[in-house]
Amino acid sequence: MHDLHATSIKYQNNKLYVLDQHQLPLVENWLACESVDAMVAMIRKLQIRGAPLIGIGASLLLGHLAAQGVATVTLQSAAEILRAARPTAVNLMNNLDSMLGVLNASGPAALPAEAERLFHEDVVLCNAIATLGADLIKPNANILTHCNTGSLATVGVGTAIGVINAAHQQGKGIHVYVDETRPLLQGGRLTAWEMKQLGIPHTLICDNMAALLMRDGKVDCVLVGADRIAVNGDFANKVGTYSLAVNAHYHKVPFYVVAPNTTVDIDCMTGAGIPIEERAAAEVRGVSGSFGDVCWSPNDTPVFNPAFDVTPAALVTGWVLDKGIFNQAKIAEGVLKTL
Ligand code: MRU
Repeated sequence: MHDLHATSIKYQNNKLYVLDQHQLPLVENWLACESVDAMVAMIRKLQIRGAPLIGIGASLLLGHLAAQGVATVTLQSAAEILRAARPTAVNLMNNLDSMLGVLNASGPAALPAEAERLFHEDVVLCNAIATLGADLIKPNANILTHCNTGSLATVGVGTAIGVINAAHQQGKGIHVYVDETRPLLQGGRLTAWEMKQLGIPHTLICDNMAALLMRDGKVDCVLVGADRIAVNGDFANKVGTYSLAVNAHYHKVPFYVVAPNTTVDIDCMTGAGIPIEERAAAEVRGVSGSFGDVCWSPNDTPVFNPAFDVTPAALVTGWVLDKGIFNQAKIAEGVLKTL
């Protein structure tokens, strides 16, 4: 396989490496990933995360294993094990379906090229989204975003953050409110880090501060990513997205979901069909990262920890995809099925 480089994943001298996002931003540590078990563990621990990135990471590993001479039947079972690593983001399933389609049609020798194609495709999709979405952003806009949707979550410029960065590059004088994103702090740890790297003016807030900023007229629009978009426009994203959408609707703040077409699930008609991952209680009782593990609750406190929630299409102003920006009427016509 050819060498490939992105912010948080790279393929170099026949080895796959992942930037350990669990340790960011304090420690920048690249981990070699040689096996399916290692990739599954990294995905579960969110060392590699973000809907597009886990799909590409799993595909690159399969391409790598095929290049090492691993047999078809082993590659097929590897794909099934990888598919089960996280249940909500459909990019993983969509990318693995592409890999399996090529494996079944052309054999293992064709897998490295397919993995590379998916890698380069994500870059192109992110660029298309950024160009389209930037037109929505008004000069001097205050944009609120949740979780992390940038170059750490994709192999390109990102989705919602790609749009934000394009508007910034165009000199629109934007400012970003970064939701901290409890429980795993992707906003506070990763988006704040990316905003700093990109030189974009930003302010970090706790998730429960968004409503009062909206009440005070300090948010012009909300941009978020997605892990799975159903045919009717309902979508799953990092937990907390739904309450942001409710708040935005109440305060009449435009609310956009930003994603590549690889995030659309054409077999899923409504948000009710999206599986929601539930994660370990320790993530809510405290935090962990390069600073160590902290538990601030009694260590047996009962916990509810859904990693994602579903936002109904009725709360969405627009769906910003690589193929266009769609409003509620277009979504109701079933445009997502035709992409
Ligand atoms: O659990 P994570 O950190 O993988 O969740 C990520 C998100 O929810 C992102 O918003 C989504 O994957 C889109 S990334 C372009």
